[in-house]
Amino acid sequence: MALSTEQALALLLILNSAHLTAACPPVDYVTVSGSAGGRAVLPCSYTPTPEQDVEVRWAAYSDQGISVPLINSKTPSAPIPAQWSGRVKLSDEVSSGNASLLISELRLEDTRDYTCTVRINGICVTIRAVKLTVQDCPPLDRVAVSGSAGGRAVLPCSYTPTPGQHVEVRWYAYSDQEDHILLIDSNTPSVFIPAQWSGRVKLSDEVSSGNASLLISELRLEDTRDYMCIVGLNVECVTFMEIKLTVQGPPKRDSTTSRTTTTTTPTTRPSATPTTRPSATPTTRPSATPTTRPSATQKTSPCPAQQGNAAAQRRSYCMKPL
Ligand SMILES: *[C@@H]1O[C@H](CO)[C@@H](O)[C@H](O)[C@H]1NC(C)=O
Ligand SMILES: *[C@@H]1O[C@H](CO)[C@@H](O)[C@H](O)[C@H]1NC(C)=O
Repeated sequence: MALSTEQALALLLILNSAHLTAACPPVDYVTVSGSAGGRAVLPCSYTPTPEQDVEVRWAAYSDQGISVPLINSKTPSAPIPAQWSGRVKLSDEVSSGNASLLISELRLEDTRDYTCTVRINGICVTIRAVKLTVQDCPPLDRVAVSGSAGGRAVLPCSYTPTPGQHVEVRWYAYSDQEDHILLIDSNTPSVFIPAQWSGRVKLSDEVSSGNASLLISELRLEDTRDYMCIVGLNVECVTFMEIKLTVQGPPKRDSTTSRTTTTTTPTTRPSATPTTRPSATPTTRPSATPTTRPSATQKTSPCPAQQGNAAAQRRSYCMKPL
């Protein structure tokens, strides 16, 4: 699906053609990757100025190198080409300089080049080319895990190891802005871990035997969010899981009052992401049981439905007691 050299050259020619570059700064290139079924944010930004008249345009390049308009901030209700219809969204913060494009439910055919053009009062101030690569993964498996503040949680992820194959495990957390944040990459274990999780996340010691689980300790309420595990074997994506972690407030112990039974969960759990991410409410997941089930009673979690075939078993995983 990647562009051929000819197509890349065609793209360059288009980008350098007079009508685009006449008023635009030099094109700035970035690459972004995502996994089929997941989401990607194509970054684009500009420096906002007061009293501005801003126009943001996003376009995709067809396999023939033809620019296909996707979104124009000035005509938000204009139809979007069928391939992206219902799946692309301009950042809500365009007026503050964030002109990023969010693509959800990624498809392999979304692998292509995109361009963002920002004009202020008709003058082009930003032009950016984003090369998006969508990795082919098995269908996304979703599971829910819960834990208590201060405790630990194992976010399950597994694969079938094959001797001699190169394994790469990546764990991501979804930010409130629906972006995904790399937590751990088994290929680059020394890479910086975001502050919120620093010192508290650890990849299973048994990755080579197929256990790619992530252990999060000293759980915090703000760890409540969705996480994603991707396992690549010789670059091929073999496991793709999304784990919804819910961290509940600690039970009030050692209290001198008699009101120790007051539940702490309702106020402490900030919007368990369904409001911000419509795609997180799949029909396949049995109605957010974790919200109602206290972690104390959750000895085991249900296994995802077993299809009985090897591929499904490879993707499926029974959660261990916390
Ligand atoms: C811009 O908006 C996107 C989509 O809402 C978000 O994921 C991203 O984090 C934002 N970027 C910045 C720099 O705020
Ligand atoms: C995988 O590793 C985690 C963390 O070390 C552990 O808690 C879990 O029991 C392991 N799972 C299996 C199936 O061995």
